[in-house]
Amino acid sequence: MPVSICFVCLGNICRSPTAEGIMLQLIDQHGLAGLVEVDSAGTGAYHTGEKADGRSRATAEGHGVPLPSISRQFSRADFDRFDYVIAMDADNQRNLQRIAPLESHLTKITLVRNYDGTSTQNASVPDPYYNDGFEDVFQICKRGCEGLLKHIAQEHKLTLKAP
Ligand code: 4NP
Repeated sequence: MPVSICFVCLGNICRSPTAEGIMLQLIDQHGLAGLVEVDSAGTGAYHTGEKADGRSRATAEGHGVPLPSISRQFSRADFDRFDYVIAMDADNQRNLQRIAPLESHLTKITLVRNYDGTSTQNASVPDPYYNDGFEDVFQICKRGCEGLLKHIAQEHKLTLKAP
């Protein structure tokens, strides 16, 4: 069974699709296709069925990263489906903790910025929807995803091929 990751933000159209697209590319570049799986979801359902926000897609595509995600709401069943539930901000993390059906699910929930080695502990990825800052979000997600993939490779004894 592949190791599975789900990135979670509020709307699943800006931050978590960006992290998902970056991670898909990293998995491919490091020779981990079939060994690590990635998805994304939102704590809210406002944008269900929508592609990632055009501003997120334009920013990511500018860096050669396509964002294939279609928005969906995170469900309680996802706690059984995914090994790593990676929240983009502290609100998402709290909402996930609140709906987790089992105590054992809580350890799956962590924050993406805690993997980048440079952010303050428990820092959030800023919500760009009304505020802009899409390039910043991309760079923050990139650092977080790189650190997270190293962490997962260590925990599961997977070798990262040089890209
Ligand atoms: P995301 O950004 O959580 O990064 O996808 C947002 C998208 C939509 C809304 C808020 C944040 N909204 O309020 O509709």
